[in-house]
Amino acid sequence: MELKRTLVAVLLVIGLSPVAMAQDLDTEKAIERYRQMLKADPWSNPGLLDVDRGETLWATPRGPKNVSLEQCDLGKGPGKVDGAFAELPRYFADADRVMDVETRILWCMEKLQGFNRADLIKSPHPSGGQPVKELGAMATYVANKSSGMKFAAKLDQPKERETVALGQALFNRRSGPFDFACTTCHAETGKRIRLQGLPFLSNPEEARKVIGEWPAYRVSSTHVMTMQHRLVDCFWQMRMPPLELGSDVSVALIAYLAKTAEGGEINAPALKR
Ligand code: HEC
Repeated sequence: MELKRTLVAVLLVIGLSPVAMAQDLDTEKAIERYRQMLKADPWSNPGLLDVDRGETLWATPRGPKNVSLEQCDLGKGPGKVDGAFAELPRYFADADRVMDVETRILWCMEKLQGFNRADLIKSPHPSGGQPVKELGAMATYVANKSSGMKFAAKLDQPKERETVALGQALFNRRSGPFDFACTTCHAETGKRIRLQGLPFLSNPEEARKVIGEWPAYRVSSTHVMTMQHRLVDCFWQMRMPPLELGSDVSVALIAYLAKTAEGGEINAPALKR
């Protein structure tokens, strides 16, 4: 009871109406039908435009050094994009760090093209109605080149294992002004806020269904949202300090999610509500 009251109070504070949580099932079914209709015609997915934009950006000489990213090593050798996403995050010896796809592209933009890292991470995600930014479009392209494959990040080297363990600890650790952990919203089957399902992400079976859908085209905000962006949003919902693109915390959470989703199919960019 006490917990229920606290939750209701918290939902009111963060602007989510508990009344709306009880939306009737018909509405949910109608939305599900709408999702099915979008899925039935894959070409109706506007995220594919960003895949194309990302591919062009990847191959275009850009930045102060005016080179393309075709020499960027995503883990399978310079320029090899096919299947690279399925094995990320991974440890990169040249950077001496574990990196997810966005962090790696950020690194390549900085090291190969000469972009300023601080500029790139200042405002890396689009606001509602704006298209995904360049880095995100390239991440969407790279992820799409693993579509149909299964998550197979090994994550078995010492630094990789450390990163996954950090991600797991962060996922479970309550913090911030609301004292929320990721598990507050993502550790139960069938939980939802309004019409948004909250997948049980520490459960491999549920993680395998959704993690491979990111980057995803989000219909309600009319743009592609990357995994780094998704986590920024969840961090905001927890009233945590802003999550920096490429930070150890962001990479650790993504590594933990990828590990949990191991064996799940990649289908990126998928469509989200
Ligand atoms: C206050 C509740 C809340 C907390 C705490 C929270 N999230 Fe979320 N999360 C959401 C909501 C709401 C959505 C779905 C949004 C939507 O449907 O558009 C979501 C979606 C997600 C998704 C995409 C799931 C899918 O269906 O594809 C991932 C991944 C995710 N969260 C990760 C995290 C991680 C990691 C943390 C901890 C750092 C976290 N979330 C903390 C509310 C939360």
